[in-house]
Amino acid sequence: MQMGLLHLLVFSSLLLALCSAEILSKIGVNYGQLGNNLPSPTRSVWLIKHQLKAQRVKIYDANPSILRALEHTGIQVSVMVPNELINAIAVNQTLADSWVGSNVVPFHPATKIRYLLVGNEILSSADNTTWFNLVPAMRKVKKALKRHKVHHKVKVGTPLAMDVLATSYPPSSGSFRPDVSDRVMKPMLQFLNRTKSFFFIDVYPYFAWSSDPKTIDLNYALFESKNVTVKDPGTGLVYTNLFDQMVDAVTFAMKKLGYPNIPIWIAETGWPNAGDYDQIGANIYNAATYNRNVVKKLSARPAIGTPARPGWVLPSFMFALYNENQKTGPGTERHFGLLYPNDSFVYDIDLSGETPDTEYGKLPAPTNNEPYEGKIWCVVAKRANRSALASALSYACSQGNATCGPIQPGKACHRKGSLVRQASYAFSSYWAQFRKTGGSCYFNGLATQTIEDPSYGSCEFPAVTL
Ligand SMILES: *[C@@H]1O[C@H](CO)[C@@H](O)[C@H](O)[C@H]1NC(C)=O
Ligand SMILES: *[C@@H]1O[C@H](CO)[C@@H](O)[C@H](O)[C@H]1NC(C)=O
Ligand SMILES: *[C@@H]1O[C@H](CO)[C@@H](O)[C@H](O)[C@H]1NC(C)=O
Ligand SMILES: *[C@@H]1O[C@H](CO)[C@@H](O)[C@H](O)[C@H]1NC(C)=O
Ligand SMILES: *[C@@H]1O[C@H](CO)[C@@H](O)[C@H](O)[C@H]1NC(C)=O
Ligand SMILES: *[C@@H]1O[C@H](CO)[C@@H](O)[C@H](O)[C@H]1NC(C)=O
Ligand SMILES: *[C@@H]1O[C@H](CO)[C@@H](O)[C@H](O)[C@H]1NC(C)=O
Repeated sequence: MQMGLLHLLVFSSLLLALCSAEILSKIGVNYGQLGNNLPSPTRSVWLIKHQLKAQRVKIYDANPSILRALEHTGIQVSVMVPNELINAIAVNQTLADSWVGSNVVPFHPATKIRYLLVGNEILSSADNTTWFNLVPAMRKVKKALKRHKVHHKVKVGTPLAMDVLATSYPPSSGSFRPDVSDRVMKPMLQFLNRTKSFFFIDVYPYFAWSSDPKTIDLNYALFESKNVTVKDPGTGLVYTNLFDQMVDAVTFAMKKLGYPNIPIWIAETGWPNAGDYDQIGANIYNAATYNRNVVKKLSARPAIGTPARPGWVLPSFMFALYNENQKTGPGTERHFGLLYPNDSFVYDIDLSGETPDTEYGKLPAPTNNEPYEGKIWCVVAKRANRSALASALSYACSQGNATCGPIQPGKACHRKGSLVRQASYAFSSYWAQFRKTGGSCYFNGLATQTIEDPSYGSCEFPAVTL
């Protein structure tokens, strides 16, 4: 009897552990839509389910065509309240009710909406007006779910970026930024605790490594290091990869505010498959290596967890489904996709974690794992919209000192009627002056970097020298 009961107990707790791992360790994908060449929602959902074998999907809005396409697929879905609505929802329960009424309720339960995220990386915005409305908005959204009687199924959270931490190294020193710690993070953690939700965080070892590639070992960032370990002097915990280090910094920051047990959800993680010349390590080899290793780690059963939380399940969404050509910022931003917009894989990957490494095809050798050294120019991109060029040209010329002197009539770079050459000169000249202070070679997609000197005749283009 005693023995039997013990067996039963052991067995049922094992079963419980297995089940919760089963439910939680599924890997999802972020379905961003900032591209003008992306497959339809129906096609995308097919690719997510049958090609990527993802079992969860996160979208950055509540796009009804996508939510319809996800009906009866069994895929768990995370939808998002747009950033622009947070201030209004924070002070208006009626608005929260009606948002949930028209963006969640009509799709329930055929579409398995399970997570409702309020805004995206709100605390990374320089404009702080929304920061203090974030938690009030989360509370109102939760209440709205309750009023519509769908709250048992739907968790409310908000994805944050690592810049919510003031300190992250060593992990045990992890703490939230003082400008949000008491006023935003404390009430947020209290809310997440009370509602049994998750702390959603975007974790990109790529950005940490690429900002300091001399100090941080690339293999440590890619989960490939055999000999590099980092010991946290505060705890004695030993780290074998950068991802764990970053996640544990968040764990310790939460603990410091009195919430040691809130589970973490990896809202985004990934590695860019390409980027600009001045961006190190963005290539297919590293992206495939990182993403396959993350999948292996996060889908392992039993769960692996992190040094501070061994055995904990870390549910996750990989970033991202597609390379998105309309994202702004440096080149890496447009190259996080697992798929190209033409449906083909950038490299083989299986988010179910069931494909062994040996079945994946060979990867192209990385060519930019060392910093680029030499000159770079900024010129008009191949398929740039000609009618938009003129205003980009005049914007570039209006910045800095004599940026466009040499393209004035009578000067060496003046070519009448050649808008593209003039604009290329202006972009190069602008970027050469402003890169150091954060200027980028992008101009809304009209500009691109090149290492081929565009100078001609006696017209020499200014360059950035790395
Ligand atoms: C609150 O939101 C509702 C629904 O959108 C709107 O009709 C109402 O005017 C809002 N109230 C205030 C005070 O803004
Ligand atoms: C919000 O930003 C403004 C303008 O940058 C600044 O003056 C103010 O101190 C900030 N408030 C908080 C609480 O950080
Ligand atoms: C780890 O091993 C690699 C390859 O053998 C070597 O290049 C590197 O210097 C080693 N790093 C340390 C910290 O031992
Ligand atoms: C919520 O807080 C209580 C009290 O600190 C703690 O016992 C519990 O484990 C917490 N739950 C979560 C999910 O963090
Ligand atoms: C899809 O697009 C990528 C990137 O442009 C290209 O390399 C690849 O050949 C294309 N695949 C197909 C099947 O067209
Ligand atoms: C090109 O730019 C012009 C002016 O900015 C704009 O009106 C037009 O819609 C753009 N065309 C395309 C195809 O994006
Ligand atoms: C432009 O020239 C002024 C005066 O020489 C200088 O203070 C300023 O920094 C220059 N600006 C740039 C962008 O080089």
